This record gives sequence, C-alpha cells and structure tokens, in this order.
Amino acid sequence: MAASATLLSFISMCIVLAAVPQCLGRRGKYKYEPNWPSIDSRPLPSWYDEAKFGIFMHWGVFSVPSFGSEWFWWHWQGKPLAPYVEFMKKNYRPGFTYPDFAPMFTAEFYDPKTFAEIIDASGAKYVVLTSKHHEGFTNWPSKYSWNWNSMDVCPKRDLVGDLATAIRNYTKDVHFGLYHSLFEWFNPLYLQDKKGGFSTQTYTLDICLPELHEIIENYKPDVLWSDGDWEALPEYWNSTEFLAWLYNDSPVKDTVVTNDRWGQGTSCKHGGFYSCNDRYNPGTLQKHKWENAMTIDKKSWGFRRDAQLEDYLTTDELVAILAETVSCGGNLLMNIGPTHDGRIVPIFEERLRQMGDWLKVNGDAIYASKPWRAQNDTKTKGVWYTSKMEGAVLSVFAIVLDWPITNQILLGAPKATNQTQITMLGYSNQLQWKQAPSGTGIVVTMPTLNPAQLPCQWAWVLKMQTV
Ligand SMILES: *[C@@H]1O[C@H](CO)[C@@H](O)[C@H](O)[C@H]1NC(C)=O
Ligand SMILES: *[C@@H]1O[C@H](CO)[C@@H](O)[C@H](O)[C@H]1NC(C)=O
Ligand SMILES: *[C@@H]1O[C@H](CO)[C@@H](O)[C@H](O)[C@H]1NC(C)=O
Ligand SMILES: *[C@@H]1O[C@H](CO)[C@@H](O)[C@H](O)[C@H]1NC(C)=O
Repeated sequence: MAASATLLSFISMCIVLAAVPQCLGRRGKYKYEPNWPSIDSRPLPSWYDEAKFGIFMHWGVFSVPSFGSEWFWWHWQGKPLAPYVEFMKKNYRPGFTYPDFAPMFTAEFYDPKTFAEIIDASGAKYVVLTSKHHEGFTNWPSKYSWNWNSMDVCPKRDLVGDLATAIRNYTKDVHFGLYHSLFEWFNPLYLQDKKGGFSTQTYTLDICLPELHEIIENYKPDVLWSDGDWEALPEYWNSTEFLAWLYNDSPVKDTVVTNDRWGQGTSCKHGGFYSCNDRYNPGTLQKHKWENAMTIDKKSWGFRRDAQLEDYLTTDELVAILAETVSCGGNLLMNIGPTHDGRIVPIFEERLRQMGDWLKVNGDAIYASKPWRAQNDTKTKGVWYTSKMEGAVLSVFAIVLDWPITNQILLGAPKATNQTQITMLGYSNQLQWKQAPSGTGIVVTMPTLNPAQLPCQWAWVLKMQTV
C-alpha cells in the first residue's frame, strides 16, 4: 500500500514538473542536493590537490593579550584555567572585560602587500585567514556583528578584504581562503539555542548563515575552512543546505574547496577534504583527500608573547612533516599568528622563507605530485616517496631527510632495471647506484659535495626514473 502510494505521488509530481519547464531546468542545473551523498559526490576542484602547501593565519582580538593561546577568552572566563585568570588579575584593572581588548587590536603595521609577499615566498599555493574565530569578532565589516568587527571597533579596517586584494594583486598563483567558526562561545543567541538543546535555530538563521553568505559573496574565497561545529548536529547548522548553495549557486561554485567540520559526526566523513583532528598526520596512505592543519608554534594557533624558542618547530622538522604529509596524499596547512599590531614576526617569516627556499629546489617532488606505491622506504627510516608522470615517464622522488653518514643510502622500495637513472634535484650529474647486496632495492651513492655546493640545507630529493 505504502509503496504504491509513494509511486503514485512520484508520478503526479513528475506530471507537475513536466508542465513547468523552468522547474525541470532548475532541477537540471542544480547538481547538488542538500544531503550528504549528493554533497560528498562533488569532485574536489583539482587545484587543491596540486597545491599541496598552504599557510594558515589565526588573527583576532586574541592576538591582543597574545598569551597562552587563541582560546584566551574561554580559558579566562568560559572554563577558567589558573594561568589565564592570574595573568588578568596581575596585569589588568578590575572589571576589565574581553571586549576591552578590541580597541587595542590596532594593526598599525599591517601591510597586506608584505603579507602577500611573505606567503608567496614560502612556496605556498593557498592561504587561509580566520575571518572569525570562536570569540565571534569578525575581521571584516559584517552587517551581522554589530560593534564586534574590525571596522566598527579597531583596527577600523577590512582585514579580510585587504588581504584578499593583496593576494590577488601581488601573487601569481596563491589561492585566497577563509576560516570561519560556526559557533561563538558567548553569543547570546547561540547560548539560547544551546540551552534549548538546539531545537531552535535563531543563531544559525540570524547570524551564522548570513555571515557565511556575506564572506562568500564579498571575498569569493577558494577555501572555506569550517570549524567550531562540534556542539550541534549538521541539521542545526543547515550544513547540507548551505553546501548545496555553495556548490550550485555561489560565485565560487567551481573553485571552492571545504573541509569536513560541518556538525557533530561529519569530521573525517563528510564535506570536502578531511581535516579530521588538528595536526592530523596519519603516516599512511589515505583513500580520501585530507589535510594536515598544524602550527609552527607547537602550543598555539594565535600569536603568543610567552612562546619560547623551543616551542617553534625547526625548518628541518617542518620539511619532514611536509614530506610525510604529501607522500601519504595530504596537503599541509602550516599556521602562523600575526600580532595585534599587524606583523608577521621574524621567526615565522624566516620559517616561511626557508620553506620557500627548499621548495624552489625541490618543488618538483611536491607540487602536483601523486603518492607512489610505497609512502616511506621499507629499509631506511626517514625516506618519503612521491611520484609524477612526466610525459610517458614516471618519475619517483625519494625525499631523504637525513644525509647518510656513509654517503651510501639503501632504498628497499625501488626495483631497478638497467635503464634506471638517478639524479638529485638541484644537482646536475647522474648519481651512481648498484643493486642492493640483499637482492631487494638499490644502494645509491650520494654526490660528494662541500657545504657551498649543497642544493639545499634540510632534505635532499633523489629523482629516479625507470624503477
Ligand atoms: C590592487 O590592484 C588594484 C588595481 O590595480 C589597485 O587599485 C589597488 O590599489 C591594489 N590594492 C592593493 C591592496 O595593493
Ligand atoms: C534549513 O534547513 C531546513 C531543513 O532542515 C529548511 O527547511 C530551511 O529552508 C533551511 N534554511 C536555510 C536558510 O537554509
Ligand atoms: C614507514 O612508516 C610506517 C608508518 O608511519 C612506520 O610504521 C614504519 O616503521 C616506517 N618504515 C621505516 C623503515 O621507517
Ligand atoms: C638490459 O639491457 C640489455 C641491453 O642493453 C637488454 O638486452 C636486457 O634485456 C636488459 N635487461 C633488463 C633486465 O632490462
């Protein structure tokens, strides 16, 4: 009974639709429907996988106290932790509130052209800026965040728009992207919805969705990096409806990529690429495109004045993480935090420029590469593989993190033929190699170079053809 009733209503719906040609046209044009199977069926725009490396920037009112982490407000007043409470007691007058930090978000040294130039020099192919973090302060003049945005208060500037313009003006192939937090710790409308077990959607409909539409329409980001989703289900956020609009109808429908943080249960499962948990780096090949979003300052996404030198990953460590991530099919999104006065501090700048120096020599092994049949070597630790078709020839790249003490490196994964040719990126001569004595793999002799002749300082790439 039920089945035939459903069939009948389906047939009558078809008759109605057939009578309205625009209606059919619409159905044809709108490829994606507001459900996960349809949203998840969208192929990821190819620029993203080819890019491999991006820069993340966490910037907001939390950059003013720049103490502890970007979760400052929460750790001070949400679920208080002693160091934050004491920091406030010791350094600020009684009655000082978090919004009192906003007038000190001055950004007087903010030169978007300099930001663009540093990002470009890092070799990154995309940048993702926090448009709004969990504190709710919008880094653009939002109509929906009255008096709690970067135009009404300080720095009286459209931080997002100025960076978008500079990235597009001063870089050749860096894609502009935006991070956006769905929830806001202390937004009264959100707290009211939360109190009612998310049975109402006042905050979603009056704040969150209008803001998302605003940033997409005004700044046309190629990355929308969603976060702050975890307290509520995707139905509360209207995530599939929003994503259907983003993919069907928005000004970036053909180029935009998003991650997987769209409500409880979506992480590592739905959306675009998978960001799973922070600093996700599985070390093995993954079926679905993924991203390792991580921080140069091991303890914070926002800039913090209390960081010690040892808290910053070294360039050697960063190159190793890039190699491991890309070998396993991921992209690396490396985070820095600008200061309240608009600077990228020299330690971050140096790390980024050194990544760029490494990529200038070794980019062939990274950009537009594909995972190979082996991700790391089977015999020698610290060797990560990538590959690329160049014409009809498959090149395999072995990224060697540590120069072997004997100058000989045993690679267990490649199978040599008598056609095999091996070079080092940034060095012009062929390298000597022989079959490994054990029978599987090869032994490559590293070139004899003095320090001035080394093509780069951190990891060396062997390019192998016909293995
Ligand atoms: C970007 O380029 C446009 C057009 O050339 C120019 O008007 C604008 O001032 C530039 N913006 C920045 C931030 O340099
Ligand atoms: C939100 O989703 C509901 C269905 O879950 C839908 O009826 C409503 O139109 C959606 N609203 C927006 C603004 O997307
Ligand atoms: C290769 O990587 C896997 C996964 O990270 C690890 O378990 C294994 O020990 C590595 N192999 C070598 C030789 O280091
Ligand atoms: C090696 O090269 C010779 C000729 O140069 C060829 O006859 C032989 O089949 C090749 N062997 C392999 C294993 O490719």
